[in-house]
Amino acid sequence: MALPRHAFFRGRVVPYADARVGVLTHGLNYGTGVFGGIRAYWNADEAELFVFRPRDHFHRFLESARLLDMALPYTAAMLTEALVGLLRAELLREDCYARPLAFYADEVIGVRLHNLTPEVSIVAIRYGRYLENEEGIHATISSWRRVDDNMIPPRGKITGSYVNSAFAKTDAQRSGFDEAIVLNADGHISEGSAENFFLVKNGVAVTPPVTDNILEGVTRRTILELLREKLGVPVVERSIDRTELTLADEAFFCGTGVQVAAITRVDHRPVGQGRMGPVVSALRALYFDVVRGKSPEHRHWCHPVYADAAPIAGPEASRSTTRA
Ligand SMILES: Cc1ncc(COP(=O)(O)O)c(C=O)c1O
Repeated sequence: MALPRHAFFRGRVVPYADARVGVLTHGLNYGTGVFGGIRAYWNADEAELFVFRPRDHFHRFLESARLLDMALPYTAAMLTEALVGLLRAELLREDCYARPLAFYADEVIGVRLHNLTPEVSIVAIRYGRYLENEEGIHATISSWRRVDDNMIPPRGKITGSYVNSAFAKTDAQRSGFDEAIVLNADGHISEGSAENFFLVKNGVAVTPPVTDNILEGVTRRTILELLREKLGVPVVERSIDRTELTLADEAFFCGTGVQVAAITRVDHRPVGQGRMGPVVSALRALYFDVVRGKSPEHRHWCHPVYADAAPIAGPEASRSTTRA
């Protein structure tokens, strides 16, 4: 992966090489950080780069920070401006991916969440597919269970909890699968290692509820709306038994990284016909139009980068706090 040339760090855009932390950094030692993943899509017809739903991503980022008792001196609007400034500095004019990170920066020994100082960084890189095989994922049900709300809350995108995802992903890939489907402690389907999950049965889409230890995906919310309002597919949010997947007509992952990816085999059994089905196919076509700013009614989700110049926001600008 080519490294970025810049980073938003300590309130301003700096050369990437200057965005450095010490090995004692709390977030590095104890996983006390939160992060996000945001895509921006190049629209060649308009020669414009559109960031997809940045305010919603940063809203979840700030909520994740609240879970870790972090008071960040930014609003979602300020972080969106910071990201736009960074993308401009990087001169990115192609599909890319941005990674905001907030972490406890103190160089101290002692596991805790209190009496610590957070710092925020954002970097952005050129980015294509997260999973090569978006049209036909071969997944496995992981032997690892999803972390529980009473362990490390999965509704926050907390850096330390991604060790759970990493166990599931590495075991899946070493066994020859593209991705893992992770069950929660009750044995219900929760999500992929870094994606939300849907299945389709008899024309109805089903996805786990937010109380089944999922990350509340921005893409998931987008898909719920597109399925219901544009494709006329009803969606039910309820717990899903593992064997419902065996008998499903279609299944798919969704997320910023994976976008919308058909799951066509699970543990050597075909899902439905064993190839991408009509709902996933229609949804993918619609989704890619929406994220590139080609759907006028969804244009409000697409934040232009080059259209009008905006200053880079930092902590010196009107400060706010995520604490109530
Ligand atoms: C565990 C997990 N679930 C779901 C998602 C999808 O979330 P989003 O659509 O907001 O990218 C992600 C992606 O970041 C994730 O890491």
